[in-house]
Amino acid sequence: MRVNLSTLRSMRTNGEKIAVLTCYDASFARVLDAAGVDVLLVGDSLGMVVQGHASTLPVKLAEMSYHTRCVAAGAERAFIVADLPFGSYQPSPAHAFSAAARLMAAGAHMVKLEGGAVMVDTVAFLTGRGIPVCAHVGLLPQSVNQLGGYKVQGRDEAAAAQLIADARALEAAGAGLVVLEMVPATLAKAVTEALTIPTIGIGAGPDCSGQVLVLYDMLGLYPRAPKFSKNFLAGQDGIEGAVRAYVAAVKNGSFPTAAESF
Ligand code: KIV
Ligand code: NA
Repeated sequence: MRVNLSTLRSMRTNGEKIAVLTCYDASFARVLDAAGVDVLLVGDSLGMVVQGHASTLPVKLAEMSYHTRCVAAGAERAFIVADLPFGSYQPSPAHAFSAAARLMAAGAHMVKLEGGAVMVDTVAFLTGRGIPVCAHVGLLPQSVNQLGGYKVQGRDEAAAAQLIADARALEAAGAGLVVLEMVPATLAKAVTEALTIPTIGIGAGPDCSGQVLVLYDMLGLYPRAPKFSKNFLAGQDGIEGAVRAYVAAVKNGSFPTAAESF
């Protein structure tokens, strides 16, 4: 049976960790799906790991739509989340709806957008019109130029309090999931406890409702994999084994450890 938002909510309630990986094509989607990955994220990280850009900013909506269609063609069980790319949703809720509708038509079950309080109206607009939204707070890769690099966020008390308030407001606006990227483990734990929706961490410690990694980082393919990632292909005899090892490590809580956290 297809994983859906209710499944993911029940998993949080029952304490079963949610295993998420990024995915960009049908062949990997088939393998990840069979290996028990609950959610496939068609991330705009494809701008870096597939297209070879230095950031996610050049990724176009038509490209996200194409990769979403590819992933949807290969997955039977997993829930599919697709990133709204830079420029496609920031101007207004109406822009966001038009862009999100294209990703949903391509086979996404939910769209993801980056930002805190500034995105609350947009999240309410989309969810009120039938499009599930995954929020994304902490490090916002589409704002890398504003942030001055890929750095841990929410380190001081004011920033931490703001992040918790943002996450609460996004949930109240209708967000169904929230990604926490590169925040201290203690803050991710506090955000998770402040919410009822599942939190999905990346560089956010072990106390989120689930974990996500960039597929090519966890397969050891990308030369600049971040500290919070781990090569799960090492010691395995193939990609399906690596993915199964990742799913098992997320489910049994052995990933991430302190070494992969802040
Ligand atoms: O694009 C992506 O891969 C993401 C994850 C890092 C959460 O947004
Ligand atoms: Na992304």
